[in-house]
Amino acid sequence: MKLLFIGDVVGSMGREMVEEFVPKLKEQHQPDLTIINGENAASGRGITENIYRQLEDAGADVITMGNHTWDNRDIFQFIDKASNIVRPANFPQGTPGKGMVMIQAGSFEVAVINLLGRTFMNPIDDPFPVVKKLVDEAKRHTPFIFVDFHGEATSEKQAMGWFLDGKVSAVVGTHTHVQTADERILPKGTAYQSDVGMTGPYDEILGMEKEAVIKRFVTSLPVRFEVPKTGRKQLSGCVIELDRKTGKALSIKRILINEDLPFRLK
Ligand SMILES: [Fe+2]
Repeated sequence: MKLLFIGDVVGSMGREMVEEFVPKLKEQHQPDLTIINGENAASGRGITENIYRQLEDAGADVITMGNHTWDNRDIFQFIDKASNIVRPANFPQGTPGKGMVMIQAGSFEVAVINLLGRTFMNPIDDPFPVVKKLVDEAKRHTPFIFVDFHGEATSEKQAMGWFLDGKVSAVVGTHTHVQTADERILPKGTAYQSDVGMTGPYDEILGMEKEAVIKRFVTSLPVRFEVPKTGRKQLSGCVIELDRKTGKALSIKRILINEDLPFRLK
């Protein structure tokens, strides 16, 4: 049983990488389920219904979100109809959408949970008790549970990984847009990676035009950040293999595709 996860798709360049490489990655790894973080897919801020369909057409079975979930108001028109979009589960009660979806992947049922971190981020409900409750609920149906923990601090992400070790199949981080090289299987069988990295511009700063970001650092003046539409691109993700009976992780491999690390069909 395999899961393919693609990290934060940023703007049109990110979407182009998904369209070009997700079919190739699927051919290579034969995943049962493909999950894509789409919270930056619309010019870096949120997602539209058209872009959601575009990611689905490119091969996404489930779309996870994050702190930019509501940045494009288009989402309010379709989030409650879309059965495969997961927004952070620790948004306040009554928030539109779902924090966990159960999805059929061939003969497997997979629970996909999205969470927001709190360290160096806007105030939000505590993700730890929220995820505990959701995992207890998911466990009644399936041992295959994937958690996208959208957070800034590696310490908070590691804490979530260890908190859920043996309780879920995988805890994979998103949001920082920088891939970490700490992928591993924790002792009780949970695949873990602090951050899977981003999909989009390769020569910019976290997907935003670097000149503007540098200007902000150099001058401290307010600067508008834009997502470029042309340039070199990258795709980041991971592929996780799970035991078909227990849902425990057998392996986790990083995926990074760019001009320095070109894709090769093995
Ligand atoms: Fe984010």
